[in-house]
Amino acid sequence: MTSNEVLNAIRGRRSVLRFEAKPVTDDEIEAILEAGRWAPSFANSQPWTFVVVRDENTRRELGQLVDRIAFAHRGHYAVSGKGTGDAPVLIAVVLDPVKDPQHWVEAGAVATQNMALMAHSLGLASYWAGLGGKSEAEARRILGVPKGLRIASLLPIGRPAYAPKPGERAPLAGIVRYDRFGS
Ligand SMILES: Cc1cc2nc3c(=O)[nH]c(=O)nc-3n(C[C@H](O)[C@H](O)[C@H](O)COP(=O)(O)O)c2cc1C
Repeated sequence: MTSNEVLNAIRGRRSVLRFEAKPVTDDEIEAILEAGRWAPSFANSQPWTFVVVRDENTRRELGQLVDRIAFAHRGHYAVSGKGTGDAPVLIAVVLDPVKDPQHWVEAGAVATQNMALMAHSLGLASYWAGLGGKSEAEARRILGVPKGLRIASLLPIGRPAYAPKPGERAPLAGIVRYDRFGS
């Protein structure tokens, strides 16, 4: 199979839930935001705002929320007891459904993934915390997001505190059909 830097980055990115308390530079944050800015969106609507959280108290509050999300899904923090609030920066991807009523969800997803990949390419790690219902309401309160806007994801970013296990995916043979689904 042909391979290059893009494919290697896509395959090498892993979700990491604990971070070292080392800083992420402004330059690195700007490059990550630039990757988000260049995400595609329906009719180039660009319905996003990226909230960069560096304030310690806000990070800790969001970190606790992200921990609860991770705990609810995978029980990680029952073991580690540590928090994603250790990540020196956290980016919230906020969407305006009025700017793109049909595809704002996809816009948020693609911008989030662009930023996660950029972070990975810089030797940083991230963790995509998906929000919904109560957790989104809590994140909106913490960040002061106005009514009508939605938060697609919270992305803690930092230097990984551990080496994640290799990723796992279903093989191509099981997920690809040619010409017709029912082939
Ligand atoms: C939309 C979305 C929402 C996610 N939400 C959560 C979550 O709530 N809790 C969690 O533990 N992981 C969450 N993740 C991370 C996934 O569990 C992770 O990407 C997946 O297990 C594959 O692992 P990898 O990212 O290391 O390849 C989410 C990922 C995506 C794309």
